[in-house]
Amino acid sequence: MTENLKVKVWRGKEHGSFTTYDVPRRQSQTVLDVVTYIQRHLDHTLSYRYACRVGMCGSCAMTVNGVARWTCRTHVAKVIKNDQLEVAPLANLPIVKDLAADMTEFFDKWARAKGQFKGDKTRHDDFAVVDPASKERLAADAGMECIGCGVCYSSCDVVSWRPDFLGPAALNRAWTLVNDVRDVQQHERLEAVAGDAGCHSCHTQGSCTERCPKGLSPTFSIAGLKRTTARAAIGGDL
Ligand code: SF4
Ligand code: SF4
Ligand code: FES
Repeated sequence: MTENLKVKVWRGKEHGSFTTYDVPRRQSQTVLDVVTYIQRHLDHTLSYRYACRVGMCGSCAMTVNGVARWTCRTHVAKVIKNDQLEVAPLANLPIVKDLAADMTEFFDKWARAKGQFKGDKTRHDDFAVVDPASKERLAADAGMECIGCGVCYSSCDVVSWRPDFLGPAALNRAWTLVNDVRDVQQHERLEAVAGDAGCHSCHTQGSCTERCPKGLSPTFSIAGLKRTTARAAIGGDL
């Protein structure tokens, strides 16, 4: 193991450039450790984002040696090339500054895909009982652990080509709610995801699924939306 890492870090906004820093190498060091070292010891003006450091909040995703990753759970040893690291903000999103991407449109698309639960029960009603072994519950469970990190969105070619595409995370969320038997806005949700910028624009190449750090499969969820919206259209419901 060499003593120092050469770390190229994106500085500025869309028209910035890379600055190289020397960072001491440590055992079990994560990419987030490296970025934090630079900010604390070498340049206090470096902007980046994180919160939990344990893979729960989804705020630390960056592009590391060309690939979108959650940096708090990515060990340097796994991604280093020729003793060098290159760290940039997530692709497919505007840059706030340095390594901080602007997530506004990412979350706006969750809203456009009707990614919010809407029930019709009040606090005076009993709890809804959902059979844990039902087909719908199992399908909802499969996509539920999304942490909103944006890694899939940043890895999606279709988002790069057409920025209005809702993208894998919002569609995965929509599919989770399509399978939530307590939700009462299913028609509006299917309308929202069936449009031109919705599920049918996905090319099924699977970069989102390959890179999702939580092991989810937005590709599978989008296939479910394609089937369900097609069935609804044939049945005259869309
Ligand atoms: S499978 Fe679809 S949503 Fe996922 S990266 Fe490819 S085009 Fe994007
Ligand atoms: S589906 Fe996976 S990669 Fe995409 S936002 Fe959720 S956790 Fe991140
Ligand atoms: S800092 Fe929360 S997921 Fe990485």
